[in-house]
Amino acid sequence: MLGWLDLPSSVNEDLIKSINDAAVRLSRVAEIFVVVGIGGSYLGARALIDALNHTFAFEISDKKAPFVVYAGHNMSSDYLAGLLDLLDKKEYAIAVISKSGTTTEPAIAFRILKGHLEKKYGMTEARKRIVAVTDGSKGVLRKMAVTENYERYIIPDDIGGRFSVFSPVGLLPVAVSGFDIDKLIAGARQMEAELKKTGDPVSNPAALYACARQACYRSGFSVELFASYEPCLHYLAEWWKQLFGESEGKQHKGIFPAAVSFTTDLHSLGQYIQEGSRMIFETIISIDKTRNRVVIPMDSENTDGLNFLAGKDLSEINQMAELGTVLAHTDGYVPNIRISIPAADEYFLGQLMYFFEFSCALSAYMFGVNPFDQPGVEAYKNNMFALLKKPGYEKQTTEINKKLRKM
Ligand code: PA5
Repeated sequence: MLGWLDLPSSVNEDLIKSINDAAVRLSRVAEIFVVVGIGGSYLGARALIDALNHTFAFEISDKKAPFVVYAGHNMSSDYLAGLLDLLDKKEYAIAVISKSGTTTEPAIAFRILKGHLEKKYGMTEARKRIVAVTDGSKGVLRKMAVTENYERYIIPDDIGGRFSVFSPVGLLPVAVSGFDIDKLIAGARQMEAELKKTGDPVSNPAALYACARQACYRSGFSVELFASYEPCLHYLAEWWKQLFGESEGKQHKGIFPAAVSFTTDLHSLGQYIQEGSRMIFETIISIDKTRNRVVIPMDSENTDGLNFLAGKDLSEINQMAELGTVLAHTDGYVPNIRISIPAADEYFLGQLMYFFEFSCALSAYMFGVNPFDQPGVEAYKNNMFALLKKPGYEKQTTEINKKLRKM
């Protein structure tokens, strides 16, 4: 499962062009683009789109691109009903993304959304508004996509979901959102070249990060907080949590990946981080230059006493909050790792995400576990299928019912 390692340098120009062309075609017909997928089949795209978008992109956007919404990442009827209400009113298209093509959550959402789309546009037009991203040779989604002649993109066999952001899984939604996938790949390629130069942790930043995490873990710090001062990185943290959690948490080992958004969470979890149980270390993701400047105005009355900040850009104050927090937390015996990128644009996010993939694989190997499987995910599915009496699960249904009677 090492296909992701060379993915940035091996992405074919024809594929990029085809994805960009699909994005242009879909942008002409859709105001909303629904990405149906779960786990690694949606988090990378969401991380990038949220980081790059205007904060209130749904209402305010300088691009003519569709707004991306998500489905198939939960089984909430209220969520899906709300989405269908929106889709009743808007022009839309769907990307259904599932490597296996059999995952329950996206399969159910897709069945419902497909029905809605066909009712709204008729069968022929609906088929033109669906793009499938799935395995090249197996799975029911692939079969359906071939039968119904959806536009299709392939997830290569040797790339697992959480390592697939630079495949069509991430590239298609990002391109439809109007962002530059060439730049994204260029950033990832640069990082790929950099990290492949040497495995020496002193000069390989991914190895250095993996070693620093391992050192924290061995010193009793088993929880890592991904901390960012920019809310646009919220879904990058979600993607990172899945990447590390699913790759590393095996055989009763691994660092528990969690995330905080500062300074917001300094007013909720800050107390615990500063003075609670000493099991937490932090990885701060810092953006050197924000996209906007917001300057604090001078006030002749100065009733709020804030004139000492007048003329300063808000991001300068945010940076001082970051520095002050690093000092306070390290004084409080919370080890800090700091990773900074010059800006939250396609190029540097491409670098950063490849960097995390690389360090995650190294880190899992340091724990002696396989980074690329997720055997533990099956446990809930087996119980759910037994409870729902899925054909073939008769024995498990009997056993689970016995267990439930004892509870
Ligand atoms: O990282 C992974 O492999 C998983 O999180 C998968 O992406 C997730 O379970 C969805 O699987 P699929 O793409 O087969 O629907």
